[in-house]
Amino acid sequence: MAPPKKLNARLNVLAGQKLPRQHQAAAKPFLKWAGGKGQLIEKFQQFYPRQLRQQKLKTFYEPFLGSGAVFFNIAQQYGIDSAYLYDINEELILTYRVIQQDVSKLLDFLYRYQKNYLKLDKKQRTEFYYDQRANYNLQRFNIDYDKYSEQWFPRAAQLIFLNRTCYNGLYRVNSKGEFNSPAGDYVNPTICDEQNLLAVHHVLQIAEIKRADFRQVIADLKAESFVYFDPPYRPLSKTANFTSYSRQVFADNEQVELARLFKQLDRKGAKVMLSNSDPKNHDRKDTFFDDLYRGFHIARVPAKRLINSNPKKRGAINEIIVTNYAVG
Ligand SMILES: C[S@@+](CC[C@H](N)C(=O)[O-])C[C@H]1O[C@@H](n2cnc3c(N)ncnc32)[C@H](O)[C@@H]1O
Repeated sequence: MAPPKKLNARLNVLAGQKLPRQHQAAAKPFLKWAGGKGQLIEKFQQFYPRQLRQQKLKTFYEPFLGSGAVFFNIAQQYGIDSAYLYDINEELILTYRVIQQDVSKLLDFLYRYQKNYLKLDKKQRTEFYYDQRANYNLQRFNIDYDKYSEQWFPRAAQLIFLNRTCYNGLYRVNSKGEFNSPAGDYVNPTICDEQNLLAVHHVLQIAEIKRADFRQVIADLKAESFVYFDPPYRPLSKTANFTSYSRQVFADNEQVELARLFKQLDRKGAKVMLSNSDPKNHDRKDTFFDDLYRGFHIARVPAKRLINSNPKKRGAINEIIVTNYAVG
């Protein structure tokens, strides 16, 4: 079913065209993502380098992009000229690139999802969700994630649909790489958030978006840069070392490699900030990050972990922040 003429005409006008800043809504993350930093932005801003606040740093790197909360904040508040955004998750990067290049086509698909889903009753919605989830898992073998194509539009729409309608908005895959979040039961989920997606499209025009490992940053590094690292959280126990964002495991040896990269970037003159969940939340004697980043500036800020299936475990915990510059 095609979108009504009026909507279509508006999309054609807006998409791909540079709007004056005052006519744009503020772009915000379009996906709910485990470890998303949306709730922490106010606190994080105090930890940004002084030179960024003075608009002297013009290039920004976010190698663990996720929902991009920090990127959206920095791109709209601090006058950067370019951004390099990476994530290992191919579905996420596909979706960002579709929004960047063909937002109006994506909106057509999302509009249809919204219309078709919202008219269903509860039972039909659940069936629709599981059909889409099964299709999403099957189709991944037919997608060429390296080559931008028409295939990407329905794929991106399907990811957004699943994210908006799954339980707790949690993107979770099993060890085979299958998306396995159960259906949610939101009464009126916004599946096609046209205004925000158009705003995101405009903000992404300064970005180079790649499916890449975090180490890519060193190859792309330019002078006068700010790099923000938000790697997967360190597992609480040695047996629970599987991260849910993707099949790949981010184990302690990866955290060690990341610390090595942090030091390399420091020597090259970049301003670098890293955040992670503080292991001391669970074991006061765990000094893993304090040891890895000894000699740098380490702070702790209270954070609420929003995505936890057990409401009792959604209590206040600290986030650890490491910077290679003095804060303030
Ligand atoms: C804590 S999340 C980032 C959350 C993000 N800051 C936000 O606000 O939503 C970590 C991200 O790192 C990605 N990731 C995991 N291993 C990676 C790797 N080796 N290189 C790049 N990205 C990776 C995951 O796919 C996930 O999106």
